[in-house]
Formats: sequence, structure tokens, C-alpha cells
Amino acid sequence: MHHACIVTQKEIVGIESATGHLKRLAREAPIVDKKWILSFPGGWQNHCRPGPGICSGDVTYLDSLEKELKQWEQSALIRSLRHEPNLLDFSSNDYLCLNRDGSHFRLLQDVIARQNQPMVGLPEDANYKSTKAQNGDGPRMTTSDPDPRNVPFGSTGSRLIRGHWPSFERAEKAFSAWIQAPAALLFQSGYAANVGALSSLTGPGHQVFCDRLCHASLLDGVRLSGAGKHYYDHNDLNHLEDLLKTRKARKGRWILSESVFSMDGDTPDLAGLLTLCEQYSATLFLDEAHALGYYGSNESPGGGLLAHLRDKESSTERIFERVIISAPLGKAPGLMGGFVAGHPTLCKYLLNRARSFVFSTAQPPILAEMIFEIATRFDRGEYNDRIERLQRNANTLRGLMLERGWQTPSQSAIVPLIVGDPSRALELSGALQQKGMDVRAIRPPTVARNSSRLRITVHSCHSQDQLEALLDTVQQYN
Ligand SMILES: Cc1ncc(COP(=O)(O)O)c(C=O)c1O
Repeated sequence: MHHACIVTQKEIVGIESATGHLKRLAREAPIVDKKWILSFPGGWQNHCRPGPGICSGDVTYLDSLEKELKQWEQSALIRSLRHEPNLLDFSSNDYLCLNRDGSHFRLLQDVIARQNQPMVGLPEDANYKSTKAQNGDGPRMTTSDPDPRNVPFGSTGSRLIRGHWPSFERAEKAFSAWIQAPAALLFQSGYAANVGALSSLTGPGHQVFCDRLCHASLLDGVRLSGAGKHYYDHNDLNHLEDLLKTRKARKGRWILSESVFSMDGDTPDLAGLLTLCEQYSATLFLDEAHALGYYGSNESPGGGLLAHLRDKESSTERIFERVIISAPLGKAPGLMGGFVAGHPTLCKYLLNRARSFVFSTAQPPILAEMIFEIATRFDRGEYNDRIERLQRNANTLRGLMLERGWQTPSQSAIVPLIVGDPSRALELSGALQQKGMDVRAIRPPTVARNSSRLRITVHSCHSQDQLEALLDTVQQYN
């Protein structure tokens, strides 16, 4: 049986009577809610003497978990997993319907069909030969790989060891060509990209200025680094400038923003952010997750908000000396993984220092092949029709909401309907579910208190009738 000893800060003296082992553990144990929770598999009597407030037998960590879960349930904040294949999708980030209409699945089949060479490199493989070493006396093992593009499923290691495959470099080149960045480095996810990049680029002595609505992965990266962190009010560049003026940095200054905010669907004044970077010698770390596939330019179709801005501004030649792009691929590109893109020196640095890159198995190379294909297709304009339909649908939905007098901050495919109370958001989501539509209620801690909402995502393959039916249902229950 698993026993635990709970010692509150007030009763810390009680530990003095415990064994040396317990004392050491007590000193090292983390403080949780002002309590030190010490947990032992069996035999707690060996570790501490029973006494009021000092020890309680038969208590496990599960008791406190259950207590918290109950509280979340009571305040309509509990979450659970749901798979809803039969409901009309208004909640995924598959903005361009590349997964919904089977396009990616067919592409994957094509990519796999191309990989029809036998696996090589295994000792028992017929291709595995021993030849005389070119330098030295001993034999040198070689393989005669019939096709160097032969791609296994598992990468078999981290990129810096044996997990590096040409597919990754192909994907990185195709992606940087698409978004017109000099270089890019692929991470396993957007979360890994943001946490890995920010925790290695910033640190003690740096000051990081974060939009208050920045995604958790950006904030976690800064938190891990130990840099100074300052929040500016959402999209408020005056507030940001006030902070930049007053918070001096011994080392670097960084501004963190998203191109399209994931829960509000609005965009920052990107030109204004770049000007502040110039004025205050700061670097902008811009997360383009939800802008890819919506914003872009003729040269970089769907390539994000920076590409959109660069189309209009001529003075952006040396932009990647001041800007770093983060590009999670799980939204419009419909895949998984995340690029950090910018100056080649940045990528070289991250490859050496970003812990989520260095200490983690690389993705399946077959996924990198898919990323290569999709980045190439975006770049060639093959998804332009979808992008146009997506923009048209988002404009239509916002227009229909305005007609009904409903406000939304949206400037993208994410169109939130803010209702405030979490129970109300759940009720509305349930009513839509009854009518065959999947719109999820987003509640704290993902969004601020009193700003629970329906996060509606518009897709390129929605019809106007479907958009109207969605709003009619909301109106009926509102
Ligand atoms: C703005 C933003 N950045 C980063 C991420 C994380 O990306 P990923 O899902 O690839 O880990 C997300 C997705 O949740 C996001 O919305």
C-alpha cells in the first residue's frame, strides 16, 4: 500500500522527530499549496511518527486529485475527451479541409508508394557488406543502398545522432522557400519548437515582453529560461512601448506575439511591432500557427502574416535579423511538427542548444516527406482555391454575426463568440451538438475568467447554408 505523510508549513517542527531519511526528503520535497506532501510506498511507520498534524496514514496523492477534479466539475470547468466524427466540424484547425476531404490521406499513400525499396543498413541485410577499409587495416562495413531516399517509419534517434534523414532537410528547404525565410529547423511539434527555441535563446539577464494572450507554449519557453517576463495588454502597442522604455535588459530584449491569436482570432499590428523592435533593439518571436493558410502573398501563398506584410512593405530586406518565425504545422497545413525559421545562424544555434530538439527522437521521416510535399504545394499555389474559399467563408460568418448584432474580434478563420459564463458556453455547445454541429466551449484556464466562449473555426469546405444554420441554432438558444 502507498502511504503519504503530509506536513504543513506551520507544523514543520514535527519533522524534527522523524528519521533522517524523512528529514532529507522533507527538505527536498516540492511545496504544493503550502503543504509538503511526502509519499512512500508502504511502511510509512518507518519514516515518521504518527501525531496530530504530522502524519496521516492511508492518504495517497489521488485524494487531492479527486478533490480538485470535483471542484472543477462543480464549476463547469472539467474537461474530457470526445470523438465526434458524425458532427459537422466547426472546431478543428483543419481550416483548408486537407484532412477532412481525404486529400492528405491520398498524398500519404502516394508518398508511401514511392518508398518501395527494401530497408538497408541492418546487419542481416543482403546489401550489408564488409570491405577493406580505405584508411587502416581492418574491414569497413558498408551498405549498398539502392536508393538513398529510402525512408523508414521510425527515425531511430535524435537528429544529432542517427535520427537525421535527408527528408528533414528537404522539408526544411521547401518550408523556408515557401515562407521566404533563409533557413528553418523542424521540431516534433509547435509546442516543442516554442519551448525549445525560447528556453535556449532567452535566459537570465534577458527581458521578454509577451502579449497577454500568447499561447502557453511561448510562455512556458520563457518560464523555463529564467528570463524576466512582462505582459503587455493584448495588442496594445502603447503599453508595450511603456514597458520597453522602463524595463532595461543586461542582455537581449524579446517581443512575443502570435500572428493570429488562437482563441480570439485577431491579429497584431505587425508593422508597429517591427518598428518597436528597431527602436528598442528587440527581437520579435512571432508564432504564425493560425496565420499559415489564411494570410500570405502572391509570392508566398498562405505563407503567414509576415509574408502578407512583406508583400506591401519594401523595407523588409534584412527582416530576419530582427524576426524569428515559429510555424506549428497542425493547423491549416493539417500535419504535425513545427518549424522555427529565420537567419541561418539561428538554426545553427538551436540545433546545438534547443533541448527539445537535442534530447528527443526525431519524427518519422515519412512525416517529413509529407511536410515537404505540402510546403511545395502551398508554394506552387496549389491550395490557392482553398485559401480563397476559406477567406470568403470567414468573411461571410463575420458578416452574418454582425447582422445579428454579435461582436467578434476575429480577423481570421477563428471566429469566437464570447458568452462569459462557462456553464452557458457548455449549454450552447450542447445545443449545437444536438443539431449535429461540433463547436467546443473554451473555458478557463485556456481563456480568462468571464470570457468563456464558443470557438468557431471556419473551413474552406463549409457552405453558406451550414454557416447560417450554425448561427440560427445559437440564436435560438441565446
Ligand atoms: C499559437 C499556437 N502556438 C503553438 C501551438 C502548439 O503547436 P502544436 O499543436 O504543434 O504543438 C498551438 C496549438 O495548440 C497554437 O495554437
